[in-house]
Amino acid sequence: MTDTTKPLAIVTGASSGIGYELAKLCASQGFDLIVVADEPAIHTSAESLRNSGANVESIEADLATLEGNDRVHAALGGRRIDYLLANAGHGLGRDFLGQDFNEIRHVIDTNITGTVYLIQLIAREMRAQGSGRILITGSIAGYMPGTFQAVYNGTKAFIDSFSFAIREELKDTGITVTCLMPGATETNFFERADLMDTKVGTQKKDDPADVAKDGFDAMMAGQGDVVSGWKNKLQTAAASVTPSGVLARQHRAMAEPGTAKTPEE
Ligand SMILES: NC(=O)c1ccc[n+]([C@@H]2O[C@H](COP(=O)([O-])OP(=O)(O)OC[C@H]3O[C@@H](n4cnc5c(N)ncnc54)[C@H](OP(=O)(O)O)[C@@H]3O)[C@@H](O)[C@H]2O)c1
Repeated sequence: MTDTTKPLAIVTGASSGIGYELAKLCASQGFDLIVVADEPAIHTSAESLRNSGANVESIEADLATLEGNDRVHAALGGRRIDYLLANAGHGLGRDFLGQDFNEIRHVIDTNITGTVYLIQLIAREMRAQGSGRILITGSIAGYMPGTFQAVYNGTKAFIDSFSFAIREELKDTGITVTCLMPGATETNFFERADLMDTKVGTQKKDDPADVAKDGFDAMMAGQGDVVSGWKNKLQTAAASVTPSGVLARQHRAMAEPGTAKTPEE
């Protein structure tokens, strides 16, 4: 059972990558945790997180479904919820016409529908309590049309925008909403999205622990957003003043199959 005197955090997508690092930071701050992912690996991650002394409940649920998100909400069992780190998400590379529609749908249902649904469920609890902090993992991908990752970048443009909109709506409720916008980060993301023969999939990437720390600190400070890493800050600043057609062409050079870097590059 969790200790009711400690803050409680839900971290989705906590089995690996950025989410696992976010969960570690929560545990290091003495929070109790509910961690969620779709595969049994979430229970192994929960076991490691318990080594730091945190009380951790793990839930295996497909967050692309409303039912999966309802199970996360039900796990609160009426307890106060202090933090929601809505991080679960995945990508899908290759050409749009060649993609399997079920996979396209799973990206949209995870990154948008499930994320929005869970945030609404939990933010209503937080509003009733009069406080809470929400961190949503968006992406700098939301700044650029994602040629050869068209649907994924679209989902992150949605999330980046949605995050700021609800932050403004909730500003008098005691709830803060922060959007973490990572650039390319060394996680399972690229393998899962079938991007390993692309430049973005094979280039040097950011450390997920650094990215998570930027997001966690921004959430604790109640900031609106944080772009992790100075190169990514420059990239988003440039993207804001670059025509969309140019950005789409630049994205082709990063994400088109066959653009992978060779070892001597
Ligand atoms: N890596 C990057 O370059 C990068 C850049 C910008 C933004 N992001 C965003 O960062 C977030 C975390 O990704 P990551 O890079 O850390 O990749 P990752 O290591 O693959 O982690 C993704 C996490 O999300 C979970 N997840 C995905 N779909 C799910 C579903 N339908 N239901 C439940 N859990 C689900 C995964 O669990 P299962 O394995 O159990 O499905 C895993 O725990 C994502 O929102 C991603 O879009 C990543």
